[in-house]
Amino acid sequence: METVAIKIAKLTLRAFNEQDVDDMYHILLGKNVLRHFPNSSPPSRVQVEKMIRGLLEHWGKHGYGLWAVHSRSEEKLMGRCGLQYLPETDEVEVDFILGNKFWGQGFATEAGHASLQYGFETLGLNTIVGIVHRDNIASQRVLEKIGMRFMEAKEYFGMACFQYALEKSQYELRHSNND
Ligand SMILES: CC(C)(COP(=O)(O)OP(=O)(O)OC[C@H]1O[C@@H](n2cnc3c(N)ncnc32)[C@H](O)[C@@H]1OP(=O)(O)O)[C@@H](O)C(=O)NCCC(=O)NCCS
Repeated sequence: METVAIKIAKLTLRAFNEQDVDDMYHILLGKNVLRHFPNSSPPSRVQVEKMIRGLLEHWGKHGYGLWAVHSRSEEKLMGRCGLQYLPETDEVEVDFILGNKFWGQGFATEAGHASLQYGFETLGLNTIVGIVHRDNIASQRVLEKIGMRFMEAKEYFGMACFQYALEKSQYELRHSNND
């Protein structure tokens, strides 16, 4: 399946393409961007190219995946966000990485909401998890703002993490209360 593109308030979530390699390479080079990841060394351009190919293959295999997050006002790549299958635990995770100059403006929250909406309303998933390094306060805050609940401290990818989760029924309840 091809990547589905979505337009939301300030962002477009669209398929990655070869032209994104350079921008994504620079985003991942940014200070503290990979600080809370298992491998915090920035990838080479070739590794970013491979990563983008992998993201497109993921869409083909699962019918969902990570989008390129694009600003609607400036036509600029800001990072990636979306849903990712974790084969080790058979879970679907919501994930986001933005370039550091875009932090603190609510963009991850907006993209995270759209990812959950796609996962629950379009795909009909039952549960979506958020996996975050214990010290990654900004990401924990985003997961809380998009309605996810802390579940437990748990090791993922060899790191001490917190697991957050949201069930479809909780998502539907919250959205019916907001109507
Ligand atoms: C995590 C990340 C995606 C957040 O993106 P963002 O667009 O800045 O997020 P938002 O602006 O939507 O929300 C960030 C929230 O965290 C809060 N926050 C940020 N740093 C914080 C800190 N050190 N302590 C407490 N709160 C903090 C912000 O105040 C904001 O909450 P608020 O709206 O209640 O004020 C971004 O920091 C990032 O890309 N980090 C590097 C990659 C990464 O760690 N990804 C997550 C992997 S699990």
